[in-house]
Amino acid sequence: MQKRNKVAIVGATGLVGRTVLKVIEERDLFPVEYVLFSSKKSAGIKIEFGGINYKVQELTESSFNIGFDYAIFCAGSDVSKKYIPIAVSKGCIAIDNSSVYRMDKDVPLVVPEVNPEKIYKNNGIIANPNCSTIQAVVPLKPIDDKYTIKRIVYSTYQAVSGAGRAGIEDLENGWSGFENKKFPHPIFNNCIPHIDVFLDDGYTKEEHKMINETRKILDKPNLPITATTVRVPIFNCHSESINLELKNEFDIYDIKILLQNSPGIIVVDDIEKNYYPLASKADGHDEVFVGRIRRDFSVKNGINLWVVADNLRKGAATNAVQILQELL
Ligand SMILES: NC(=O)c1ccc[n+]([C@@H]2O[C@H](COP(=O)([O-])OP(=O)(O)OC[C@H]3O[C@@H](n4cnc5c(N)ncnc54)[C@H](OP(=O)(O)O)[C@@H]3O)[C@@H](O)[C@H]2O)c1
Repeated sequence: MQKRNKVAIVGATGLVGRTVLKVIEERDLFPVEYVLFSSKKSAGIKIEFGGINYKVQELTESSFNIGFDYAIFCAGSDVSKKYIPIAVSKGCIAIDNSSVYRMDKDVPLVVPEVNPEKIYKNNGIIANPNCSTIQAVVPLKPIDDKYTIKRIVYSTYQAVSGAGRAGIEDLENGWSGFENKKFPHPIFNNCIPHIDVFLDDGYTKEEHKMINETRKILDKPNLPITATTVRVPIFNCHSESINLELKNEFDIYDIKILLQNSPGIIVVDDIEKNYYPLASKADGHDEVFVGRIRRDFSVKNGINLWVVADNLRKGAATNAVQILQELL
């Protein structure tokens, strides 16, 4: 009888972890033996998944002794830093949602629509990019292949679910008049131009992630990119304004057709009918929605895009499960 693959889901009780379980169910990735892990806090709770009632286990240093083939890590940087080396030393391939290994030159940073060939160039760790980067590079890749991107300006409008359960609680509590705990300011009725910590150059770490990860994924280490990342009072789905300068001339109609025919993208772009991508419409979907596709007349070969995606799905869980599916 063929051996069943054994897969660990670490952080199964969190926003990304629960979405991972949903996406695995939708894609019917069975029969695989799954084991769900959390911290001590949620250990013991039951989660129904794939028709089976799983008891969530506390993650410990001996958790990987039973021999896992693959693990999806969605429990934050500290957990990835400590437990991924242990998992890998026991022969497990880890797909990591944290930022710990993303810029490591020996770790592939994978978006399956963009660089699927990198999945097999791993030394035991495959990194999932930052949520805001994933949804950006899906439409940027076909544009770069055909017209060569010369410069990128990112401005993001990021949902509170991007900060995990605590982010959702801050928005819900703010609505009820309670104080913020997760964000540096009340997120209710606010836009906060500050995601992750500030670095010495005045940019935030989130902005650096977008810049560096885009360069790595597109394999253009010197590409000029700037970014402003903003948290907005939306429960789920990140929206992004992306301004590009291209090397080659283009026809705007051809760009729309190119994007329409590229994997993982739905073009929603009919201004006469007020059709453009909306966070409320992208919620629960795996695709990246692109609209407001128009020429930027202020530069030669400039273009503007409005790009929206479900950060818990394509920005995290779906991307990780696509990688797992390929490995399985
Ligand atoms: N949210 C997004 O849109 C998004 C997008 C891309 C990447 N990510 C990354 O994905 C990861 C998870 O994010 P999230 O939004 O799902 O966070 P979350 O909702 O706060 O969930 C955190 C999960 O980690 C578990 N955990 C915490 N400490 C642990 C420990 N010591 N051992 C084992 N499990 C532990 C928690 O278990 P308990 O229930 O026991 O607390 C929970 O299951 C983070 O690295 C985040 O940066 C998130």
